[in-house]
Amino acid sequence: MAGRLEGKVAIVTGAGRGIGRGEALALAREGAAVVVNDLGGSTAGEGSDESFAQQVVNEIEEANGQAIANYLDVSNYDASSEIIKQTLDTFGQLDIVVNNAGILRDRMVFNMSEQEWDAVIAVHLKGTFNISKHASVLFRQQRSGRFINTGSESGLGAAGQPNYAAAKEGIVGFTRSLANAMTRYNCTANAIRPRAATRMTLSDEMEAARQARIARGEASEGDSEEGGGLASLDPNVVGMLVSFLASDEAQHINGGDFMVGGNEIGMFSMPQIESRIFATGSSWQHDEVWQRFPATIGQHFSASNQ
Ligand SMILES: NC(=O)c1ccc[n+]([C@@H]2O[C@H](COP(=O)([O-])OP(=O)(O)OC[C@H]3O[C@@H](n4cnc5c(N)ncnc54)[C@H](O)[C@@H]3O)[C@@H](O)[C@H]2O)c1
Repeated sequence: MAGRLEGKVAIVTGAGRGIGRGEALALAREGAAVVVNDLGGSTAGEGSDESFAQQVVNEIEEANGQAIANYLDVSNYDASSEIIKQTLDTFGQLDIVVNNAGILRDRMVFNMSEQEWDAVIAVHLKGTFNISKHASVLFRQQRSGRFINTGSESGLGAAGQPNYAAAKEGIVGFTRSLANAMTRYNCTANAIRPRAATRMTLSDEMEAARQARIARGEASEGDSEEGGGLASLDPNVVGMLVSFLASDEAQHINGGDFMVGGNEIGMFSMPQIESRIFATGSSWQHDEVWQRFPATIGQHFSASNQ
């Protein structure tokens, strides 16, 4: 069955390749008109190449879908506004935003430059804000809309990706805020943490960097960093969940945090306090913290956690 997004218009950022391409194709397959945004840079975010976005537009059109290409940089606030404007100028509406564009500049924190930090935060976290901010003005007015934002399991603490982990957890927190803010306007916002074989996870450069970290004892084979154990995972699977989350059927699914990849879809829980202690008096006293914490909450941290 297809056509369940007939009459809707979507923007997918970073849709020229990998997961974003699959998301654009899945949305188009269900009948949505798609703005395929991609500046076409390297994995590290350098350079540009318009052919990737155009190629996806061609694929959608060959399958009798509707799409246009956009090559602007989502990390730029004004350019992000232009993406929305081009969407409205072309299709007259916007219903679905998929924030997917991303880059990597992996480095251990003690070796990371300010520039490497800023570049990754700019594309992922600020880029997600930029598009969502401009779309939210419209979604609020029209009282409908879907945001699907891209986190990562690396956000759970991949040692060699401090910039990326921070950006990705930032996106999940931002998505919860967006979900809470926009629910009164009939909109939903959900985060996905994909697993897929793409150039981001499979490039020679990525694999060499990962092996070097393992050799230095800074990572292990089982780490959840991008690149670990993903080689067989079809990136098109991610778009299947995204197209559902974008649909009217998913109206009640808001503020979620989902893993999707291969043959698995998972739902993360909302972080919550799992252990608590209280002072004997109305407020903690200095020495009481030193005495009570190690014997209670401190017991959750055994030497094997080090
Ligand atoms: N592949 C995985 O297993 C995996 C795991 C977790 C999260 N992710 C996330 O999924 C998303 C897609 O990753 P992918 O694996 O498909 O990578 P990819 O490198 O194949 O695709 C990313 C695309 O984003 C585009 N892009 C980069 N910066 C941009 C910018 N400023 N403006 C517009 N477009 C830009 C690139 O040109 C590229 O085509 C990313 O956010 C990534 O962090 C991927």
